[in-house]
Amino acid sequence: MNLRYSDQPGERAAPIPCPVPQGHIGQPSVTDVESAGRFRPSAPNPIETLPSFLTVLSKMRKDPLSLQTREMMEKPACEVRLLGLRAVFISDPELIRYVFARGADNYGMDPLRRALARPMIGDSLITNAGAEWKEARRVTGRYFTAEWLAKYAQIFRAVSERACADLDTSSKIELGAFIKGISFENVAEAFCSAGSEILSRVRTEDFSDAVELQLSVDPVDLMNLPRGVPRLSKLKAIQLAHICAEFGQTFVLNRIRRSAQSEPTDDLLEGFVRHWDPQRRQSKKAVRKIQDNLAGMLGAGFEMTAVTMTWTLYCLLNCPRSMANVRAELGTCDHLKRPPTEWQHALPWLTASIRETMRLYPNVPCLLRYAKCPDSVGGFEIRPGDYVVANVWAQNRNSNRWPDPEVFMPERFLRRADGGCDFQPFGVGPRACIGGRFAMIEAVVVLATVLSRFDFELVDSHNIDPVWRGTLRPSRPIRATVSSIV
Ligand code: HEM
Repeated sequence: MNLRYSDQPGERAAPIPCPVPQGHIGQPSVTDVESAGRFRPSAPNPIETLPSFLTVLSKMRKDPLSLQTREMMEKPACEVRLLGLRAVFISDPELIRYVFARGADNYGMDPLRRALARPMIGDSLITNAGAEWKEARRVTGRYFTAEWLAKYAQIFRAVSERACADLDTSSKIELGAFIKGISFENVAEAFCSAGSEILSRVRTEDFSDAVELQLSVDPVDLMNLPRGVPRLSKLKAIQLAHICAEFGQTFVLNRIRRSAQSEPTDDLLEGFVRHWDPQRRQSKKAVRKIQDNLAGMLGAGFEMTAVTMTWTLYCLLNCPRSMANVRAELGTCDHLKRPPTEWQHALPWLTASIRETMRLYPNVPCLLRYAKCPDSVGGFEIRPGDYVVANVWAQNRNSNRWPDPEVFMPERFLRRADGGCDFQPFGVGPRACIGGRFAMIEAVVVLATVLSRFDFELVDSHNIDPVWRGTLRPSRPIRATVSSIV
């Protein structure tokens, strides 16, 4: 393989042409922005140097985001040594594209992701590598075609309309819980045609807490010790994962039995059953495989989009000017003349607000890979076993690429809807998000439906910090009053 960075150690390749998005040119300065009453969401300040070993361990568990150093934020690449591990952090989009896409064969999925996610989702698309990953990706990918996305979009619309009809406007609500309820039903209905059945058996909060606790980094995870070694910080997660797994097993077994007897429902779960248990023998191995892959898709599909939608609402409620633009375009009802998959085109402000939110609050602020063979990245020698970390948080807050990077300015994304190649909210390369288009359609349809029905006002919920626990979440509940739009 001819890879530029490994061919010429220490030397940067010529960047792939990627023009600076037009929307960046002539943006107002920070002072103009502040005086115009723009919203600057709170975020941790970078630290000068990494703290002591024990503090690092504790912060890794509670909020690894608070360990971002100035060097990590400002340099395109820098080296960090921790617990005997060596990691090169990269925030330059070109370097990230190299490691995650062009040079992806030299890098493996990180063992940490596997260690964190496996207790919940076993051997699945998200945790596997090699042939098993390829197989799961192929089987799952069949359910993300334009045709399927059109079906899912109808589901998102119906579910959010129902949730709006059921919303009690007489008391304050917690925005995160409201949105999670919708998002969970969306994926459960889309992937296994059983939104209400699953919701009646598994509490959305339990599922979400299990994801949060399980994906938080325990010191034992960092040391990559075997699964049998207890992660003391995760005892509750294990209990929650057990509840979800017990229900999951019965649910999958019922579906396999039904699908052997009657005309099967066509959905992702049925695709898994057809692929991993074609004879409907219900072997332990096949049931486990189906269950793990389903849990992975429900977990990734529900949690990531729910958090993004919640942050988007939070940012819009803090930025009246952007909210007014979103409401103005919703008011024309132009989007209703199109199928929901195309609402993005009729709602540029809402779509740009979601993208700007993903820039400020990337669901996974750092993506990890480990090196399988020697390489050179950003002037650093990479040895087999080293980690290379795509520092998405730093990439998205680089002032050379994003003027006034800490300010919420959806208009950055108005002229270049995708944000150009500086912006990769769904990752790049063979392991990029399988649900990127699904997530964008869902976020636009749900938020358009909710914002067409209701006005929200935040109650004691300004200046909420992001904390990285599994995904980048609000540090405390976001409470709001609700009133119907007549
Ligand atoms: C705003 C919403 C979302 C964001 C920002 C997001 C982001 C990402 C990113 C950055 C990755 C790549 C991780 C890496 O390279 O290590 C990823 C992977 C993945 N995402 Fe998403 N995601 C979102 C929604 C979804 C949805 C809705 C689904 C399912 C319907 C989904 C399923 C997955 C899966 C299965 C993978 C693993 C793919 C693989 O390893 O082959 N995600 N996501």
